[in-house]
Amino acid sequence: AIDIAKLRDQTGYVTIDPGYKNTGATKSAITFLDGEEGILRYRGYPIEQLAEQSSFLEVAYLLIYGSLPTQSELDAFSNRVTKHTLVHEDIRKIFSGFPSSTHPMAILSSITCALTGFYPESINPNQTAEQVDLTIVRLLAKMPTIAAWTYKNSIGHPLSYPRNDLDYCANFLYMMFGYPTEKYEVNPVVARALNKLLILHADHEQNCSTSTVRLVGSSNASLYGSVSAGINALWGPLHGGANQEVIEMLEAIERDGGDTSKFIAKAKDKEDPFRLMGFGHRVYKNFDPRAKIIKKAADEVLQELGVTNSPLLKIAKELEEAALTDQYFVDRKLYPNVDFYSGIIYKALGIPSEMFTVLFALGRLPGWIAQWKEMRENKEPIGRPRQIYVGERERDYVAIEQR
Ligand code: ACO
Repeated sequence: AIDIAKLRDQTGYVTIDPGYKNTGATKSAITFLDGEEGILRYRGYPIEQLAEQSSFLEVAYLLIYGSLPTQSELDAFSNRVTKHTLVHEDIRKIFSGFPSSTHPMAILSSITCALTGFYPESINPNQTAEQVDLTIVRLLAKMPTIAAWTYKNSIGHPLSYPRNDLDYCANFLYMMFGYPTEKYEVNPVVARALNKLLILHADHEQNCSTSTVRLVGSSNASLYGSVSAGINALWGPLHGGANQEVIEMLEAIERDGGDTSKFIAKAKDKEDPFRLMGFGHRVYKNFDPRAKIIKKAADEVLQELGVTNSPLLKIAKELEEAALTDQYFVDRKLYPNVDFYSGIIYKALGIPSEMFTVLFALGRLPGWIAQWKEMRENKEPIGRPRQIYVGERERDYVAIEQR
């Protein structure tokens, strides 16, 4: 067998794979993804079954600890998470420093990192398993509170306190829309839809943000710091930020009169930077199974909420149909991804578009945690890619007056 490490040391041999299109960075037992067949499983369980039957906290437990919990394990886990939903009062002071125009993702990543200041033991790489576990629980518990606060901050409302008599999704909706109204009642249709969306986003193997979390964590950085970095990676419009871009694109098409063919033509034009947002995926060369579930859920949720005529859903379906039969999209195997229909549901649930990527982050959190934990437990080495240097070979310094 070839000893790659020896070969590299002797020859300077380096594999170049821009965008890591064909480079596996790790072995992982968390999520199975077959992009050709359009299959996604968490710890072996098909995403379709989990989305239909499970709860977000149960899926979080599954991803993080490796197996489905028994009822008592799930109760204990939920109780622990519920106990930690409050965030330190001093975090309010940090919030008061953010202008209301700050994008919620910027606040989410800043505050997540700032948690290290409140729990300084979390930056110790030699924490016991119990201490790591407490950090995990705190992060899962506080993220919805922080996420809701990013919204409250954007509209200038008082920051909400959690209601621990509600479950994870219902409490988040209360903190977004109920607080401080005493009589607010969570619509179960909305809570169910949110639960499903969060499950669908919970993990997706080595995507950009997850790879970021693992890479940052590989230097023994804290879980809070690693997840904060992942939130920033997710924010980009080619990754999680696409869900906000999709709805803005659909609204732009509607404002423009609804002619989808014009936008399909723009997306195909190589001189035009416009891309059909919510279309295409690095790994899926077939239908994204999550998009299939979300499309069906969008129909159901709109119907249950009594939205009988959604122009945005109509435009999305027209775009999808046109793209699926267009040679450009067929040749490049471009299908709707998870972001294509999710925004339509979020919008119907009353969530403003600037919060869409925050919702994605809330969903992806258990995946980031599970991947960070797996990396640490497997004692993976620090991530440190190589390069091929293409710059100047060597030259002498020239004094500034002689340049
Ligand atoms: N609209 C138009 N053309 C597209 C699109 C699109 N949405 N996506 C890819 N293409 C074209 C590219 O122009 C390229 O064409 P070429 O071969 O003629 O040069 C070809 O398809 C391959 O695209 P790449 O960008 O090389 O594929 P890559 O795997 O690097 O990118 C990505 C994947 C980033 C998701 C891309 O499809 C894209 O930009 N989509 C729109 C943004 C989006 O929806 N992102 C969310 C992804 S899912 C997630 O992160 C949760």
